[in-house]
Amino acid sequence: MSGFDIDAIRSDFPALRQEVRGKQLIYLDSAATALKPQVVIDAVRQVYEHNCGNIHRAVHLPSQRATQGYEGTRKQVQAFLGAAKPSEIIFTSGTTQSINMVAQCHGRANLGAGDKVLITGLEHHSNIVPWQMICEEMGAQLVVAEIDDDGDVPLERIEAQLKAGGVKIVAFAHVSNALGTVLPAKEICAMARSHGAISVVDGAQAVPHMAPNVVDLGCDFYVFSGHKLFAPTGTGVLYGRFDVLGAMPPYQGGGDMIRSVSFEKTTYAELPNRLEAGTPNIAGVIGMGAALTYLGGLDMAAMQAHEEDLFRYTDESLRSIAGLRRVGTAKHSMGALSFFLDCAHPHDIGTIVDTEGVALRTGHHCAQPVMKAFGIPATARASLAFYNCRADVDALLASVRTVQEMFS
Ligand code: ALA
Repeated sequence: MSGFDIDAIRSDFPALRQEVRGKQLIYLDSAATALKPQVVIDAVRQVYEHNCGNIHRAVHLPSQRATQGYEGTRKQVQAFLGAAKPSEIIFTSGTTQSINMVAQCHGRANLGAGDKVLITGLEHHSNIVPWQMICEEMGAQLVVAEIDDDGDVPLERIEAQLKAGGVKIVAFAHVSNALGTVLPAKEICAMARSHGAISVVDGAQAVPHMAPNVVDLGCDFYVFSGHKLFAPTGTGVLYGRFDVLGAMPPYQGGGDMIRSVSFEKTTYAELPNRLEAGTPNIAGVIGMGAALTYLGGLDMAAMQAHEEDLFRYTDESLRSIAGLRRVGTAKHSMGALSFFLDCAHPHDIGTIVDTEGVALRTGHHCAQPVMKAFGIPATARASLAFYNCRADVDALLASVRTVQEMFS
């Protein structure tokens, strides 16, 4: 595909050069965690070999370099999300921590008895449980806009919940991890705002495939994990619109989040430090900066065209297998394709294709309500990244046929 040299791209990812179980690795589990390009691995190594100092705390050169790298990534994330200020970007350990922070800080300060938090039937457990916990504590109610037979969330269902009144927070996945459904985030954020609710967008499965603009989306919070964005594990981002984020009380107390401390009274630092207590994952965040630099060097339009083509090819290929059922057929989908076979449990599919070197995720994908909506316990899920190619899909197909042969 012009503008996108897939062979050159693949050579940037050392994990793709390995054999597993005596076969070439076919990695189709990027929705669980994405592979890392060599530049990210090198950036992390560089921190530990040469720039190993704590941030914001010392005048010595390694500390200054670490601070520059860490704060440089904050500016890169700001640019990636189109945020207005670097101080709107808070580093966390991942999407889960980011959502818990919003629930525990914004939720605790703003929810009361009778208020509602609205989520969708598509959510990952990390966008359900934190809301259940805070609702229970504050006497608020968790309400759900359910999915339809395609695994989509009709906007009318969201609107109906909003019209019923009392919704203070609308939290939803930009892209479903279990099914790949893409939700119209801009429309949902606008609906939330027009009903006086704030919006929290779980972008964990969106950012590997697009660069969302938080101003254009009109969201109040946008969260994602570094490790799905080709960056190290243990890194994440909480974007918050300055006014909403600035009104949030601190999440944790500790070093680097204070202005002054005495036994009588502590005053807090400004954003972003106020919400980043303790020594963060410095090397991981610097690795995230390297991942963003790497992504910035790719032709985004060509990359998206490549991914769309591959998604279509995977969908058509899977559908050509008799006895295979796709789960989640929303018109607008990306990244992940879930399916099951009439003849074999998803766990068996995952185990057998693994012997062929094919890495899939099987199970409920931390989205048990999605499985329940389809009346199934689990699916097999193939998830794609821009470094995948048609040969990967062909290998998947061959391995799924092997499963069918074994069970027929
Ligand atoms: N949330 C990750 C997944 O969907 C772990 O696999």
